Amino acid sequence: MSDVDLRRDGAAALDWAAGYLERVGQLPVLAQVKPGEVRSRLPAHPPEDPEPFASVLRDLDGVLLPGVTHWQHPRYFAYFATSAAEPAILAELLAATLNSVAILWRTSPASTELEGLMLDWTAELLGLPPGWHGHIEDSASTSTLAALIAAREATGRDVVVCSDQAHSSVAKAVRMLGMRLREAASDARFRLRPEELGDLSDVAAVVATVGTTAATAVDPVSAIADACAAGGTWLHVDAAYAGAAMVCPELRWAFEGVERADSLVVNAHKWMLTPMDCSLFWSRRPAALRDAFSLVPEYLRTPDAEDALSLSEYGPALGRRFRSLKLWAVLRCVGASGLRAHIRRGIELAAGFEEWIREESGWELCAPRPFSVVCFRVEGDDDRNRALLERVNTGGDIFISHAVLQGRYVLRLAVGQMRTTEEDVRCAWDVLRKEAAAL
Ligand SMILES: Cc1ncc(COP(=O)(O)O)c(C=O)c1O
Repeated sequence: MSDVDLRRDGAAALDWAAGYLERVGQLPVLAQVKPGEVRSRLPAHPPEDPEPFASVLRDLDGVLLPGVTHWQHPRYFAYFATSAAEPAILAELLAATLNSVAILWRTSPASTELEGLMLDWTAELLGLPPGWHGHIEDSASTSTLAALIAAREATGRDVVVCSDQAHSSVAKAVRMLGMRLREAASDARFRLRPEELGDLSDVAAVVATVGTTAATAVDPVSAIADACAAGGTWLHVDAAYAGAAMVCPELRWAFEGVERADSLVVNAHKWMLTPMDCSLFWSRRPAALRDAFSLVPEYLRTPDAEDALSLSEYGPALGRRFRSLKLWAVLRCVGASGLRAHIRRGIELAAGFEEWIREESGWELCAPRPFSVVCFRVEGDDDRNRALLERVNTGGDIFISHAVLQGRYVLRLAVGQMRTTEEDVRCAWDVLRKEAAAL
C-alpha cells in the first residue's frame, strides 16, 4: 500500500518531534500567515501515486510550520495555555497503532477498562467522592452537552441557568437542544450570584463554573448546590480549565460544593499536560446518563452485555478512541507530585506578573486572580488596549488574548505551558511595556 517503513520513517518522525520541541521557543508564537496562505502552497488535487513519508515531513517543515500557532511554545499565554507532555505524545502514537474503536466493551476491553480506572485515579487525585461514573469525551463542549441531555431526561424540564460569565458552550448546547437559557447576573468579582437563580422548579440544570473563561472566577458552588437540591435541579459544574488545580490540597477551597454536583467536567487537555482531546466527565448519576444515551441496535448486542460496561451507552458517541492511554502515560510518568508542581509553578509565575502590574503606574489589574490567569489593562480606552494586543501579538515574541469584563476590554495573560519560565513571563512584561510606550 505504501513504502513507509515504520522503523525508518518512525525514527525520522520522532526525531522531527524531538527537534521541534527543542527549537519551538525560537519560533514566532503566533502563525505569521494570512488566511488562505497555507492552502495556496499545497497541491489542489491529491496525488495519484504513493509518495515517501519523507515528503510529508519535508512539507510539514516547509509548508505547514509557518502556518502553525505554537501551543507548545514557552511564551504562549493566550486563552488557556496548554501542554502536551512527552509521555502523552508517545502514547498518542501507540493509541493510533492499536487503532482500538471502543463501540462495545468486547471491541476494546482494555480501552474501556483503562478509561474507567483512569477516571477513578484522577477523581482520587482531585479529591472527588469515590464511586462516581467517569468517562472521556472529546471536549468540554461535548461533556456539557451530555450533561444537559441527561438533566433534561432526568427532570423532564427544558430551562438551563448559568451566569453571564459561563462559557459559550453552555449557550451553544442549549441552542442545539432547543432548550431555553436563563442567564443569572454575576457579582463584582464575576461570580454567579445565588440570589439571582430565582425559582428553580422549572429548571432542568444549573451550570456553575469554577474558573470562568474570562476572569477564572469561582462560582459559589455550595450555595448553588443548595438551590439545586431545593428545586430538584441537576447541577453541572464546568471546571474545564481550573479543575486540574484540585490536585493541590491548598487550592481545594475553590471547589467546595463540587462533591454535590450531578456532573462535572475537567479538561485534562487544558492544565493536565495531556494533549487534545481529553475531556474528563464524571457523574454521580450514571443511571440518568444511561437512560439518556443507551440505544443498542441488534448488530451491537452481545451475550456479555450484562456484565460488560460499554461507555458508548453513557454519552453521544458510538466509536470511541483509546484516549485513556495518554492520560495513563501522564499519570504514571509525571505522577501526582509532577502535576502538583506544574499547577503550583503556573500560579507562582502568574502571581509574579500580577505583582509587576500592580506596582507599575499606568497599568491596572482588572479581576481577582485565583489561579494562573491575570486580567489587566494599560491606562487609556478600549481602543488603546485593543491596539496594544495587536502590536504585541504580531511581533511574534508572545501571544496573549483578551476578554470583556463588565463592558471593558481587558488583556489576559494565561500561564500554563510546561516550558514557561520566569524569563518568559519577564519577556512578556517587557514586550507589553515597550509596545505600550510606542503606541
Ligand atoms: C470554562 C470553560 N468551559 C468550557 C470550555 C470549552 O472547552 P472545549 O474546547 O474543550 O470544548 C472552555 C474553553 O476554554 C472553558 O474555558
